[in-house]
Amino acid sequence: MTKAEYSFAQKKVAYYFDASFSLLKDVVPVANTVLVTDENVFAQHKEKFEGWKTIVIKAGEEHKQQPAVDYIIGELIKLEADRKTFVVGVGGGVVTDITGYAASIYMRGLQFGFVPTTVLAMVDASIGGKNGVDVGVYKNLAGLIKQPEFLLFDYSMLRTLPNEQWINGFAEIIKHACIKDATLFSILEKFTLHDFQQDETLLADIIERNVKIKTAVVVEDEFETGDRKLLNFGHTIGHAIENMHQLLHGHAISIGMVAACNLSEQLTGLHFGEAKRIVQLLAKYHLPVDIETDDEKVFQVLRMDKKRASNEMNFILLKKIGEAVIKPIELKVLQQHLKEIL
Ligand SMILES: NC(=O)c1ccc[n+]([C@@H]2O[C@H](COP(=O)([O-])OP(=O)(O)OC[C@H]3O[C@@H](n4cnc5c(N)ncnc54)[C@H](O)[C@@H]3O)[C@@H](O)[C@H]2O)c1
Repeated sequence: MTKAEYSFAQKKVAYYFDASFSLLKDVVPVANTVLVTDENVFAQHKEKFEGWKTIVIKAGEEHKQQPAVDYIIGELIKLEADRKTFVVGVGGGVVTDITGYAASIYMRGLQFGFVPTTVLAMVDASIGGKNGVDVGVYKNLAGLIKQPEFLLFDYSMLRTLPNEQWINGFAEIIKHACIKDATLFSILEKFTLHDFQQDETLLADIIERNVKIKTAVVVEDEFETGDRKLLNFGHTIGHAIENMHQLLHGHAISIGMVAACNLSEQLTGLHFGEAKRIVQLLAKYHLPVDIETDDEKVFQVLRMDKKRASNEMNFILLKKIGEAVIKPIELKVLQQHLKEIL
């Protein structure tokens, strides 16, 4: 186990890398702590929860809604949680997002921490302090930014993760490589998903590297006025087609990244010429790289995106692998290009 501390605007957050779940009892007082998890994680790791007060919520994005928060608050009342109680979310991004939110509003805010249990939650969702829930079809509409006290990474929890969730998480890892880390890109080219699933040292190294990338971006720009926006690479078109085609998030982001790469190549001035290499890497990690879609419908969805400002839209594009830029693109230029980039 190695411990690191990162300074965010309001507090220092402790990161326990390569830790065991059992370390949790040294990080928080067992008697004064409530764990929140979902039914899948609870079923797969029952023994870890023995001796802890635990609230189990329903699994899945469809339950990342206000009723889950109400349920957690009701259970906290039953458990007589008070302002000294610690709340720890043990699960994927759905659990960490909801737990951080519920803990932040119960009695105007309890201390909380996370034990992320999916690749995506480890390298992305648990980091950065964005907590909240969806409201109907609107993703993450209600929420707040508040950092956890700590993150505890126990990579052995990934042994029970379904394969499609590994693939989902690796879409964000490839995103990090594209926007920030050319060496990480080469590492991903050298190995396969299977290698990372089999070799715990390799896995620990890649997770830790990605945790540090996301953390560095957030520490620099906690309230998303600049560089944090780069993390949206592939997400603008990705979100549009995710809803239209009911795709898995990682799949949608993969197609979105390909579109953003193609757009980066087509726009003069960027001199980007590595779209093919990125497409090959995504395909190697079992991610889709194209889709049959109605580009006019995609354009209509994009027009309503919150990143649109009057007749322009901010896109995250690549100058080269490892270096991203934010460029405003005129809607009519985007409309012309959509057919070719998707
Ligand atoms: N706060 C942020 O900055 C941020 C960033 C990215 C994503 N997110 C959010 O994260 C969510 C997606 O997170 P996710 O992909 O982790 O989804 P998830 O939490 O739904 O987990 C995916 C599935 O894996 C199961 N699972 C989790 N850990 C497991 C384990 N160790 N073994 C077996 N099964 C396990 C879950 O029960 C679920 O069925 C979305 O709601 C998204 O909005 C938040």
